[in-house]
Amino acid sequence: MPEKTFARAAALAACLAAAAACAQNAPVTLTIHASQPTHAVSPALYGLMTEEINYSYDGGLYAEMVRNRTFRGDWSGTPYWYLVEQGEAVARMETDKSTGPSAALPASMRLDVEKADTHSPAGVLNVGFWGFSLRPDTEYKGSFYAKDAGDVGPVTISLVSDNTGKALATTTVSGVGAEWAQHTFTLKTSAIEPSSSNHLELTVTHPGTLWLNLVSLFPPTYHGRANGNRIDLMEKLAAMHPAFLRFPGGNYLEGDTIKERFEWKKTIGPLVDRPTHPSPWMYHSSDGMGLLEFLEWCEDLHMNPVLAVYAGYSLHGEHVDPGPALEPYVQDALDEIEYVTGSTSTKWGAERAKDGHPAPFKLTYVEIGNEDWFDKSGSYDGRYAQFSEAIKAKYPGLQLIATAPIKSVKPDVLDEHFYVRATTNFHDATHYDKTDRNGPKIFVGEWATREGLPTPDFGAALGDSAWMTGLERNSDIVVMASYAPLLVRVDPGGMQWETDLIGYNGLTSYGSPSYYAQVLFAQYLGDHVLASSTEGAGGKFFYSITASAAKKKLYLKLVNASSDPQQVDLNIDGAKLAPTAKVESLTATNPEETNSIDAPNRIVPASSELHDVSGKFHHTLPPYTIQVIAFDEQ
Ligand code: AHR
Repeated sequence: MPEKTFARAAALAACLAAAAACAQNAPVTLTIHASQPTHAVSPALYGLMTEEINYSYDGGLYAEMVRNRTFRGDWSGTPYWYLVEQGEAVARMETDKSTGPSAALPASMRLDVEKADTHSPAGVLNVGFWGFSLRPDTEYKGSFYAKDAGDVGPVTISLVSDNTGKALATTTVSGVGAEWAQHTFTLKTSAIEPSSSNHLELTVTHPGTLWLNLVSLFPPTYHGRANGNRIDLMEKLAAMHPAFLRFPGGNYLEGDTIKERFEWKKTIGPLVDRPTHPSPWMYHSSDGMGLLEFLEWCEDLHMNPVLAVYAGYSLHGEHVDPGPALEPYVQDALDEIEYVTGSTSTKWGAERAKDGHPAPFKLTYVEIGNEDWFDKSGSYDGRYAQFSEAIKAKYPGLQLIATAPIKSVKPDVLDEHFYVRATTNFHDATHYDKTDRNGPKIFVGEWATREGLPTPDFGAALGDSAWMTGLERNSDIVVMASYAPLLVRVDPGGMQWETDLIGYNGLTSYGSPSYYAQVLFAQYLGDHVLASSTEGAGGKFFYSITASAAKKKLYLKLVNASSDPQQVDLNIDGAKLAPTAKVESLTATNPEETNSIDAPNRIVPASSELHDVSGKFHHTLPPYTIQVIAFDEQ
């Protein structure tokens, strides 16, 4: 038992022994009928929702280290890139719109070097995403597209410490010629201290002109995938036992305008063929995390894709009328589904194979749009019906998700979003108890208790846990649920949306208390809900009871969101329980307590054991506690 938990347990025991001095909630009687399942738990209940927000991909999960690798310009010049003129060197850098490595990237960075030599190199430097976060003895794999005029000679690539100006890893690339070509390189650090105060330099030592584009550098990635994901973040996501991934958004799917929507066809194939696009969250997307990368992310974490297709509505209010105008968008969605699921004999299945993934992906759910209740034109009913008719005709097995209530057809599933305070969740944990079981199934595609920033505090985790007990109890109708947003870069300017599940900088990451609540809820989940009842429960006590017959386990989740201990008198009939049960507890001294990048482990699950378990026993929850008890059936 961690020291803090032990101290709190001892304090609680002392307090309970001196009954007069210790405020307590009135005891709750919780009766569980272990031989009476009420319904199956949806096997896809807990999953992930993701979009490009808070530097979730660029500067986040997508491990690319070069920021603005395609030299996109704005009013200020070329963000994140600077000219290098060392010693006597004289050079100029500017955007050249007349030449680029591909139709998708028709421009480039032109470096005119008037004077340079081995003592006075000239070139460009990139500051990365809040620096280049480097570790000791690590290989970084890089590449760039280039051509030259006047023979600038070899290009030297170095990772340089901002503090000392010394190169921490360096290599050279020769053979840049008059035609655009991709060049690859590897940089290896030695026994350095991990640090983010570094930048990347590309320099030459001969006068001439060098054109550059798509400068890229990757650290080791999860499963060693090229163009892959950050290892620590993927490990944190894997620990959530997610059954699905909802992508690519969110508002990111819609874009601010139709033109700025997520156009999946522009996110596949070689990076040099991806034009990149503006995202609604105030920064430009590299589209390195494209459609295939989302699917490979699913593959890596054994998740089913929940594919959201653009449905003709964008955030600033533009929409496409149902009918002929919508047809190209419907066709685009059909093509997208074919790219995901089609055999290699189909047009888009063959394209997927060309992109390196011949095997089709399994797809069960397709979501039509995002938050279309914002569309005040009233066009969603017709748009949904048109997409539904076309998709069902070609793919009758797919389950379709509507993002707003509609009348003309019955959607298979309705996506509902909840961003609330903890007190709302305490009242609303019964939200789905009375939902019509003959209507569409429910996907809670975005939800969060929004308290704490950049990541939720323990009070939010209590609200989340109360809400999740309701999701589990109603998991006959609630088939899927995903917290949002999932990720946040905690460096200055990294957050666009407050209260995000997992925080990180370039070197490390941490889970919020809400993250650990999710981990526990998903990890200890049975396949059916048991009949149960309570007496005497106040408004801050919540529970869920599920069981797995195959594993012979009962999983009891208990939430005490109050500031006082909560005695629970348990009556469990219909099963013979082993005398010792496993307990996982998340607890805090106050609701504001939280984790952070500097204190990542303040609130983490603590394991212990419960002894003398029988059909009837008393159990006391400390104040502000989320607990899972895993009982073994004998
Ligand atoms: O999760 C942040 C945003 O909230 C999503 O992009 C959008 O769907 C919702 O309004």
